[in-house]
Amino acid sequence: MSRWLIGWVAGIVLFFPATVFSAGEHQRRFSVEVALLAGDNRLLLEDGLSSEKRQWIEGRIISSKNVLPLLARYYVQESGYEGLSLFQQVEALTRYPVGSDTLQRAVMEMSERFPVQFAVDLNKPLDSLSKRQVKSDYEEMCLGCHITTAQEKSVVIGEFGTFARSMTDDEWLARLLGGLRGDSYTALENPFTDTEIARFFRYVRDELP
Ligand code: HEC
Repeated sequence: MSRWLIGWVAGIVLFFPATVFSAGEHQRRFSVEVALLAGDNRLLLEDGLSSEKRQWIEGRIISSKNVLPLLARYYVQESGYEGLSLFQQVEALTRYPVGSDTLQRAVMEMSERFPVQFAVDLNKPLDSLSKRQVKSDYEEMCLGCHITTAQEKSVVIGEFGTFARSMTDDEWLARLLGGLRGDSYTALENPFTDTEIARFFRYVRDELP
């Protein structure tokens, strides 16, 4: 009888990916910030940004660089990861100049090693019920600021769908997880569940101009 039980429990444990158990909130915060830094620095390296946007992105990169050592410390505390080396790598990374190729290479490399852990399948298309739900959520909670026809220079980005489609899955997820949290200085957790985030992920990408 107990053998059945052990088999059953082991089956459940194997069924869930390890990330469900190991990815704590601090680890996620760290990965999100690294992915945001990679994405924002990428935007700076691309041509054609208005000066308002450039200024806004530079400000975000500076605040990312300031907050990353602290997030790395929390990451290490929570995960038991070999701390000193991660800490040194983050310190080194924060010394590279904003908008440089060296920063881009270092932060991309770190982002690949610490991908954002997320438990919900982001590639699943929305069923019609979820689509109705997220459409009304978006109209109620987001559209007031993220107006689809906003001018390109707006920091909240008109053409949100186009923006969402212009980057990797990891970066768009990080922007949703990070952008809905306030700024880098707040330790507030994202108020939405992963299921809700996954709906916003698909909705903005698939349905908005
Ligand atoms: C009160 C206005 C306001 C509301 C409401 C709002 N946002 Fe935002 N959002 C902003 C501003 C301003 C920024 C950019 C500033 C920043 O970096 O925090 C932003 C940034 C974001 C970003 C990050 C963009 C990036 O480049 O990193 C995402 C994603 C986002 N919002 C999604 C949403 C979603 C989804 C909702 C609805 C649940 C929502 N926002 C509601 C004002 C708002």
